[in-house]
Amino acid sequence: MRLTAEAILGKKRKGEKLVCLSAYDFPSARAADEEGVDIVLVGDSVGMVLLGLDSTTAVTMEDMLHHTKAVARAVKRALVTGDMPYGSYNNPKSALRNAERFLKEGGADAVKLEGGVAIEKQVQALRNAKIPVMGHVGMLPQSAEKIGGYKVQGKDTAGAEKILKDAILLDHLGVFSLVLECVPAALAERITQQVKCPTIGIGAGPKTDGQILVLPDLLGIRSGVSPKFVRRYANLEKEIRSAVAAYREDVLQGKFPSPKESY
Ligand code: KIV
Repeated sequence: MRLTAEAILGKKRKGEKLVCLSAYDFPSARAADEEGVDIVLVGDSVGMVLLGLDSTTAVTMEDMLHHTKAVARAVKRALVTGDMPYGSYNNPKSALRNAERFLKEGGADAVKLEGGVAIEKQVQALRNAKIPVMGHVGMLPQSAEKIGGYKVQGKDTAGAEKILKDAILLDHLGVFSLVLECVPAALAERITQQVKCPTIGIGAGPKTDGQILVLPDLLGIRSGVSPKFVRRYANLEKEIRSAVAAYREDVLQGKFPSPKESY
């Protein structure tokens, strides 16, 4: 049985940390799930991480459903959250229609939307329909072009107050968790103390209720990308390259396949 949104909320009440990852395919999601990750987010970061896009704004509902289905087939225990792509929640009606697609077609348990006050009506419509919602405030990748790139948000008082206001609103609307992306650690701590839902930090310091990273980033698959907040637990790009190079050599030298690998 998968964890429910209620169970995720309960973890904050019990003081348990949440371990979350963004993953986009069957084998990665299965590994994350079997190693005890609580939430697998099928993030729209898939556009930049796997699909070679320059930003997340070109990711479509069809892209997201394709990856969500693969993740949902793998995950038995974690809560699967589908990330609503840019343009899929412009108004309450489209938000509801597309969120239902994530649940019914994609096999997700919940959806994530970026923003606070600006998407109040959309979140309200989803909560009225009893759809579990994960919030996301701070640095919003879908708005990165508008704010001049991927920059830490909430460094000045006005910026911090806006993020706090968004967080409190989302909490009142009934989100079951809240991603805080690229905000000062002190602001993340303040928000964490003021909301009843668990906060999940990415570039938000150690005082949130949980953490999330993009699985291919912690595996070191993209050597060209290294935000300060990513800790690399492996260097798979190096492993992949040396495996491909060894395979190439074996083929060129007639060493692969061997008799044992032939019929
Ligand atoms: O798209 C994504 O993977 C995300 C997480 C980094 C929070 O939004």
